[in-house]
Amino acid sequence: MEFVGEEIDYTFVIQKTLVLMLCVALSWKMIIYMCNLLNIEKEPIRILVTGAAGNIGYAIAPMIARGMMLGPDQPMILHLLDIEPASKSLEAVKMELQDSAFPLLQGVIATTNVVEACKDVNIAIMIGGFARKEGMERKDVTSKNVVIFKAQASALERYASEDCKVLVVANPANTNALILKEFAPSIPEENITCLTRLDHNRAQARLADKLSVPVSSVKNVIVWGNHSSTQYPDTNHATVTTKTGDQSIKEVVSDQKWLKNEFITEVQQRGAAIIRARKQSSALSAASAACDHIHDWFLGTPKGTWVSMGVCSDGSYGIPPGLVYSFPVICEKGSWKIVQGLSIDGFSREKMDDSARELAEEKALAYSCLNV
Ligand SMILES: NC(=O)c1ccc[n+]([C@@H]2O[C@H](COP(=O)([O-])OP(=O)(O)OC[C@H]3O[C@@H](n4cnc5c(N)ncnc54)[C@H](O)[C@@H]3O)[C@@H](O)[C@H]2O)c1
Repeated sequence: MEFVGEEIDYTFVIQKTLVLMLCVALSWKMIIYMCNLLNIEKEPIRILVTGAAGNIGYAIAPMIARGMMLGPDQPMILHLLDIEPASKSLEAVKMELQDSAFPLLQGVIATTNVVEACKDVNIAIMIGGFARKEGMERKDVTSKNVVIFKAQASALERYASEDCKVLVVANPANTNALILKEFAPSIPEENITCLTRLDHNRAQARLADKLSVPVSSVKNVIVWGNHSSTQYPDTNHATVTTKTGDQSIKEVVSDQKWLKNEFITEVQQRGAAIIRARKQSSALSAASAACDHIHDWFLGTPKGTWVSMGVCSDGSYGIPPGLVYSFPVICEKGSWKIVQGLSIDGFSREKMDDSARELAEEKALAYSCLNV
């Protein structure tokens, strides 16, 4: 039997293909246009940076404006606060930010007025404070910071946006955050945190260096406690990604003595080592850690990963409620949750309690300065 096929009209097929290609190209252009339109329409977020004329302030401002904190499609308005003696430097920071022509930066308010600085802010990064000077007693430094944080808490409470999230960087960071919580009772306590991410990053970087692996392959270290030399960098649950999958750090680092001694001391003393080398405290790494902290809080921690944040204790792991203590947390949709159910051995228990004890002492000292 002979099969007689229909004759193919090649001109028709070419015409159809061309029309189809044109449609695909147009649709693609439309998608890109819509995405750009959506980006443009994103409302700018107002971010307060206190101590903005200082070391960390100078390092963090361009990081935020470049999108390192909230992603490449989130515009922002920066509110920069410092005190009167630093007003010239503060103005210079504003000028440099303007001259950098950052596409995401929709405005800069540089002020020494705390009310103007706090007005409608959605995020507050509290870096400004009184630094300890040689020969000063701890009580003197605490009393100065208590006064600063009490005033700034009241301003945030009255003038910041209702959903304002706060990150305290200025030392003593945990106790300053506690004072802020005390004097801004209408800000939900889960919105008040302090920075221990720098210690967390330092611990992961030290392990990566020891194992000669990229730092991105090390995860789930925990920094428990105070951002001070009593902090406890815990590697019991940390892992490193190898060709055969995730392996426990405890198994891969065969030198357990190093993990329990030098490693912990090096992380605890890293800030002091930077001061010795630089004659100033860490600024670039602190600024970067503050960006990481807010980034993960707002945009979420990667699946299977936790980070360390100073948050109000709810009694988890036997840490007294009411202290601002660094815990392992998982973040999702702008909220954090303390990771539960991790096993704590005797060695860890002791170190965690030591740091909690120090925080309780700091709290008592701060309250005595307030005469509360
Ligand atoms: N939590 C951490 O991981 C971490 C890490 C590094 C540094 N820190 C702390 O961060 C703070 C800032 O460090 P830095 O190196 O930028 O110090 P810095 O001295 O360079 O800057 C501090 C700035 O704060 C300003 N300031 C002082 N009182 C203020 C107030 N009442 N309101 C607004 N601004 C005020 C100062 O004028 C100065 O410009 C220090 O307390 C430091 O100990 C914390």
